[in-house]
Amino acid sequence: MNPLPKHVAIIMDGNGRWSKKRLMPRNVGHLMGASNLRNVVKACIEKDIRHLTVFAFSTENWRRPPEEVATLFDLFVRYLKSEIVDLQKQGIRLKVIGDHSAFPKELQDQIDLACALTAQGEVLTLTVAINYGGKWDILQAMQAWQRAHPYESLEQLGQDQLTPYLSTYPLPEPDLLIRTGGESRLSNFLIWQAAYTELYFTDLLWPDFDAKALQDALDSYSLRIRRFGKTDEQVKSSSKLDAEKEKTR
Ligand code: IPE
Ligand code: IPE
Ligand code: MG
Repeated sequence: MNPLPKHVAIIMDGNGRWSKKRLMPRNVGHLMGASNLRNVVKACIEKDIRHLTVFAFSTENWRRPPEEVATLFDLFVRYLKSEIVDLQKQGIRLKVIGDHSAFPKELQDQIDLACALTAQGEVLTLTVAINYGGKWDILQAMQAWQRAHPYESLEQLGQDQLTPYLSTYPLPEPDLLIRTGGESRLSNFLIWQAAYTELYFTDLLWPDFDAKALQDALDSYSLRIRRFGKTDEQVKSSSKLDAEKEKTR
């Protein structure tokens, strides 16, 4: 059995279909989705998960109708403003990742303020990906590495050396990635960091994903065999060794 994942990532998908099922405008689904994030964050804390990273807006979501994009951004600003005190109270450290260079100044300031005011949080790191794309992340990391090493060529760049320049640093790579809404794809989320992440897809729409659904995902994760390229025998003998080490502690 796998120990509890340290880092869980979620693609919060299905808000639009949740509204459609109820003959309501898509915005209502987004509102319910934002409020559901509060419940899932709480459930993660109760289950002792240290890091939660959620996908809120992808670099491809700009292709949506401008009214929907505007509503989503309005929601982000409101969420950031209304949640700061609660996040602080719960010991949550907020991190916001993505390309924020083109954001309105008000949103950039809100993001900086919320991150600064919650920087002492030690219970859970909540990372919200807004205008995030995995391809963007890899490219910006390479550019940042090159800026930091102006006299070295890209030939000298190793995989591990890129890690500190990825927007998720210093988070560990996600152990478990959950996608709600029934699609089985990554849609450009954490494509570098999820190279060895366990994937879990559920048909539940994001506003319906609750503590029980999270537990189902964790149960599924606990039964996965994480080989990282090794054989079953190697994995078994190293987990036996770990168990023995644990006993002699
Ligand atoms: C996810 O829900 C939220 C965002 C992508 C911002 P969707 O809005 O994609 O919901 P569906 O997939 O249309 O149901
Ligand atoms: C992925 O959902 C992005 C977020 C949840 C923020 P989409 O609904 O945009 O994904 P696709 O377009 O179905 O792949
Ligand atoms: Mg969708």
